[in-house]
Amino acid sequence: MSKLFRAEVVSNLTLNDKNNLLTLKPLEKVLKPEPGQFYMIEVSHTYDPLLKRPFSYLRRRVAELQFLYAVRGRGTSLMKKFKEGMVINMIGPLGRGYPRPRKDCMPLLVAGGTGIAPIFSLAEELPRKAYILHGAKCRDELILMDELMGLGMESFLCTDDGSFGVKGTVADALYDFLMHKASPSNHYVIFACGPRQMLEAVARVASEKGIRGYASLEENMACGFGACLGCAVKTIHGYKRVCKEGPVFPIEDIVW
Ligand code: FES
Repeated sequence: MSKLFRAEVVSNLTLNDKNNLLTLKPLEKVLKPEPGQFYMIEVSHTYDPLLKRPFSYLRRRVAELQFLYAVRGRGTSLMKKFKEGMVINMIGPLGRGYPRPRKDCMPLLVAGGTGIAPIFSLAEELPRKAYILHGAKCRDELILMDELMGLGMESFLCTDDGSFGVKGTVADALYDFLMHKASPSNHYVIFACGPRQMLEAVARVASEKGIRGYASLEENMACGFGACLGCAVKTIHGYKRVCKEGPVFPIEDIVW
């Protein structure tokens, strides 16, 4: 089964000023993705821009894949113009996703901004209780709240400006959870995704509290399959390619 396939745009919805929800229907038989894996999506049929853009999937349905994206530059501006019925090329699933949480651990799912996409796909596949901590700059950027509620997990929401939930960052919320709400009988493991600065703060909290975890890194990518070295990050085991050895790494392995 090829990882390169064509997909039809089913819908391309605006969620708010920044975030959008893209639903694609693969037109060929495709491999089943694991939470945390990603796809390279073609944003233009011309050579400008040449490179596909990487996105973790948000949801997998029988015949559809959903992606969350924020308009940040040229590529995502072009994606915003995708119309229903349009056919694009994509490659995936790529990279290594989150390991399945062991039966004896309590997952702490920590997401910042659009980092909620791989966290949501993991949450949907967990057969048991977990906690979700989700942070964003402001109320408008806290997305998928109804869907998170629908998963029946205990959620802790926060915003940098205090316009919804607790005021502060998601790393602050994690620290507060571990200090005041965590049960000493639980063996917590963190599964995180978000901007690098947020992940670094989460890694500091994890280290201070002696908790292990996994972080999915959001990096710019050129090839997406390990050939160009453009996505290399420093780890305690040397440089690793986010697209090939990641995007998920043990949080304590990353040199911030
Ligand atoms: Fe080319 Fe990762 S994007 S090696």
